[in-house]
Amino acid sequence: MLTRPLGQSGIEASVVALGTWVMGGWMWGGADEQDSIDAVHAGLDAGVTLLDTAPIYGFGHSEIVVGKAIRDRRDRVVLATKCGMVINAPGGRSVGRSTAASPSEHGHLEIKIYNHPESIRHEVELSLKRLQTDYIDLYQTHWQEEDTPIEDTMGALMRLKEEGKIRAIGVCNATPEIMDRYRSVGPLDSDQEQYSMIHRKMEGGSFQGEDGLPDQMGYCEKSNIAMLAYSPLVLGLLSGSVGPDRVFSDSDLRSKQKRFSQPNRQKIADLLAQFQPVADKHSCTMAQLVIAWTVNQPGMTHALVGARTPAQAVENAGAGLVRLDAEDLALLDGLVRSGATELDLT
Ligand SMILES: NC(=O)c1ccc[n+]([C@@H]2O[C@H](COP(=O)([O-])OP(=O)(O)OC[C@H]3O[C@@H](n4cnc5c(N)ncnc54)[C@H](OP(=O)(O)O)[C@@H]3O)[C@@H](O)[C@H]2O)c1
Repeated sequence: MLTRPLGQSGIEASVVALGTWVMGGWMWGGADEQDSIDAVHAGLDAGVTLLDTAPIYGFGHSEIVVGKAIRDRRDRVVLATKCGMVINAPGGRSVGRSTAASPSEHGHLEIKIYNHPESIRHEVELSLKRLQTDYIDLYQTHWQEEDTPIEDTMGALMRLKEEGKIRAIGVCNATPEIMDRYRSVGPLDSDQEQYSMIHRKMEGGSFQGEDGLPDQMGYCEKSNIAMLAYSPLVLGLLSGSVGPDRVFSDSDLRSKQKRFSQPNRQKIADLLAQFQPVADKHSCTMAQLVIAWTVNQPGMTHALVGARTPAQAVENAGAGLVRLDAEDLALLDGLVRSGATELDLT
């Protein structure tokens, strides 16, 4: 497994990371706890070192499951979690209420983005407890808000670092302007953004007809900030295993997304079929090919890939061994560019 540094932190982490949003169950039609624990163990045994979770994933459940899975192997893990998505916070930006798809014992809860220093200090203690550890390797603000000055948020994170509770600081869902403000206070080591073959906003340019976007991958590369792609398989859509016939339960967010409509899934299947010769050349699966493509884009250092079973975790980890050459990358890019105009990406 290839590893790359997390910014300037001195921490090396596997290019294929295991994402644990699905392990929270909420929004994913539930998750089996033992499968989740087994998936973490299988991923680690297959060479993954970086695990990504967040308090909001299943309202603490994902962190609890990860904590159980790693308590006897903490030294093998680069543990990343987040702060700033808070239930019933006194300030910040509301992002809506949990829906019937959330676990019933929580009722309907208001979720806010809230990066206030006092809230972060409270949150970190809860995460450490759920994760059964006394330090977090990478601590990231999950989303950004305007009520709290970014400099105050970063000041709080820097203090946590001085105290040894966290080792590196990252952001998610940010912009270069926002990152500049974090960096005016202290070193920022990572940026986590949605990125996949068909979601290319981070490259800037006009892949999806959105001209004038900044080249965020270029910014991170120049600034020595690791860039972590989230949803690189587009929630399974690019895994090669989600065909037009798969049925999603009502409590699975994919049941309501247009990109998972049956006609769109058929178009994706047609696009992926064109990748098959490249997959055959490397004796890899479609999911491995897509993940390998992702971590071979300039500036994209790591891919966070969700898995709900040990088999998925092992398959995805195998992408860390696939070495695509310039010809493969150009061929895949050309196919995506001609096929993506047909796709619904919403
Ligand atoms: N910072 C943020 O705002 C943010 C947002 C989203 C995600 N993330 C992070 O990024 C991670 C990954 O993103 P994601 O979970 O949204 O999407 P993803 O990695 O694109 O897709 C994960 C899903 O695809 C399916 N899958 C995975 N591997 C597969 C395989 N080999 N074969 C077939 N199906 C496979 C599984 O779902 P099924 O088995 O149910 O089909 C799995 O839950 C998350 O877990 C989280 O850590 C961060």
